[in-house]
Amino acid sequence: MTEGILLCSHPQCLSEFPIIDGIPIIVSDLRNYISQNILPLLERHDLTATMESLLGDCFGPGSAFDSQRQHLSTYAFDHYADLDPEETATPPSIPGSVARLLKQGLQSLTGKKSGPVIDIGCAVGRSSFELAQEFDDLVLGVDINFSMLKVAASIMETGQITYPKRRVGITYDRREFSLPADKKRTDKLDFWVCDATALPLASESFSLAVSLNLLDCVTSPYDHLKELARVLSSKSCGIIATPYDWSANATPVGSWLGGHSQRSPYQGASEAILRSLLAGGDHPNALAELALISEQEIPWSLRLHDRSHMQYQVQMTMVQKYVST
Ligand SMILES: C[S@@+](CC[C@H](N)C(=O)[O-])C[C@H]1O[C@@H](n2cnc3c(N)ncnc32)[C@H](O)[C@@H]1O
Repeated sequence: MTEGILLCSHPQCLSEFPIIDGIPIIVSDLRNYISQNILPLLERHDLTATMESLLGDCFGPGSAFDSQRQHLSTYAFDHYADLDPEETATPPSIPGSVARLLKQGLQSLTGKKSGPVIDIGCAVGRSSFELAQEFDDLVLGVDINFSMLKVAASIMETGQITYPKRRVGITYDRREFSLPADKKRTDKLDFWVCDATALPLASESFSLAVSLNLLDCVTSPYDHLKELARVLSSKSCGIIATPYDWSANATPVGSWLGGHSQRSPYQGASEAILRSLLAGGDHPNALAELALISEQEIPWSLRLHDRSHMQYQVQMTMVQKYVST
């Protein structure tokens, strides 16, 4: 187990931030974060699949344990099941859609290709592993979900992928397999708990920022865009992919980019509102330093269980940060 405490040395700050299971937790309201995450922070990983299934039956559907297991199943399947030699998934539940999304984004990349990279909302980390194979500099995967990052950090440390694959209801099969040799370049990869709307990172520090399927999950999509722009260095690119699947559970309706107020000039169209927020856009709070480079539509799918999956059409927007004057 890798643990430690980061201490801010500023005499008027002296804030402490824990590193647990090798994952620094750097959020502004640490006390609140820790108290809201007792299960993922204290959960044990030494139980057999049989014991885990018995506990899962007892905790029952709708429990925090159940919802965490469902999330892990859905995202770990998409991120890694294409690497599982025993995976027998058949269409329409084909894993690897986030890796394909990233690949298409990287193909249309212009601008700087060296320097640190940030993967914001990386979940269980596949896109960060792919970025680490492509770039020579630091790749930092950040997410707000500790249990997702724990999967990513454990793969990085052990080269082994272990996740619960949901069959149906509260029945799961434990999947275990190795990360292939061509994905094992992890010496400059790291995973941190950070909030995408308030990144604890210096301005102008990244040469690429990736935000895959995150914009519609944060409390303030605008603040996330602002932070993405802030941490990018001049001429660097951002890849923003989103299905605009707005939900009031994740984002207050007033902060959605579109998806409401269809009587407005944009008729509630999310695509138009995102464009209006970029350089040259007519939104009063447009981010003048983020220029729109290109847009494309790409499929993205998530498996829920053996008989259910969700298919999205994601808009991928490439942006570039203007040269500072
Ligand atoms: C829809 S998932 C997408 C995950 C991954 N990028 C992919 O495409 O498979 C959204 C991710 O964003 C994370 N997230 C939500 N709010 C966040 C925030 N404020 N800061 C950082 N990550 C956040 C969630 O924990 C989740 O892992």
